[in-house]
Amino acid sequence: MYENILTETRGRVGVITLNRPKALNALNEATMREVVAAATEFDASPEVGAIVLAGSEKAFAAGADIKEMAQQSYTSMYASDWFAHWDRLTALRTPIVAAVRGYALGGGCELAMMADVLVASENTKFGQPEINLGIIPGMGGSQRLTRAVGKAKAMDMVLTGRMMDGVEAERAGLVSRLVDDKQILPIALEIAETIAGKSKHASQVAKEAVNAAFETTLTQGVLFERRTFHSLFATEDQKEGMAAFVEKRKADFKHR
Ligand code: CAA
Repeated sequence: MYENILTETRGRVGVITLNRPKALNALNEATMREVVAAATEFDASPEVGAIVLAGSEKAFAAGADIKEMAQQSYTSMYASDWFAHWDRLTALRTPIVAAVRGYALGGGCELAMMADVLVASENTKFGQPEINLGIIPGMGGSQRLTRAVGKAKAMDMVLTGRMMDGVEAERAGLVSRLVDDKQILPIALEIAETIAGKSKHASQVAKEAVNAAFETTLTQGVLFERRTFHSLFATEDQKEGMAAFVEKRKADFKHR
């Protein structure tokens, strides 16, 4: 069904693997549409509680497809609102875990930053090398990288195009967990499985609440959190979660 990605479901985890090995998973338009379509389908499924986004061992993704963009003009970019389709991925409510192996450059770094939890190793290479092509990041890099690592490192990366390894990225706050190379995918799957085992309703609104911190004032954000917290008392999963604690047993969430 898809040409540029592989999809599978493992338990309650939907897995999307970028699969353009000859182009180091460069994100052409077709790949973008497939990733968004697959993630949207997983997001809508009651059987899926978390999504893992992965690439290959050599490259999570080496960027947007330069060969596809090389001949574009301002008017063609503007008319198609190039890259706007990615916004649909960030609007999804299911938590996304990125297993970031190898190169995550340009759009690859930006795609990883659209995920909610990033797992990498010391050999992962993050970068926003667009400046070397005479352009700047176009899939949110100047904004998400700055929010993740602060102005000093974001300016350094975006202006010089240098790469940051996983160790530096974890220290800077871009990476959630730094693990051994071979463990990136297994740990990403384990994290996703853990998330998918929680109440789906709670994990979705938890994602919304954390994301609200980037969009609003502290007072409004705390109010959003509190009202959302109140709303969870209307769910079966809250009843089950608290009853299980009191009865000293494991909660059996209905994921509704
Ligand atoms: N777009 C299109 N094709 C790409 C690509 C990209 N972003 N990255 C790699 N490829 C292709 C190469 O052209 C090459 O194809 P051919 O065999 O047909 O020549 C193949 O993938 C393998 O790549 P290399 O031979 O270059 O592999 P390497 O190991 O020598 O180097 C690399 C690896 C350092 C990642 C290098 O490929 C590279 O610098 N890639 C481009 C990185 C980049 O500039 N990314 C930003 C793109 S612009 C962008 O992303 C805009 C945005 O904000 C969204």
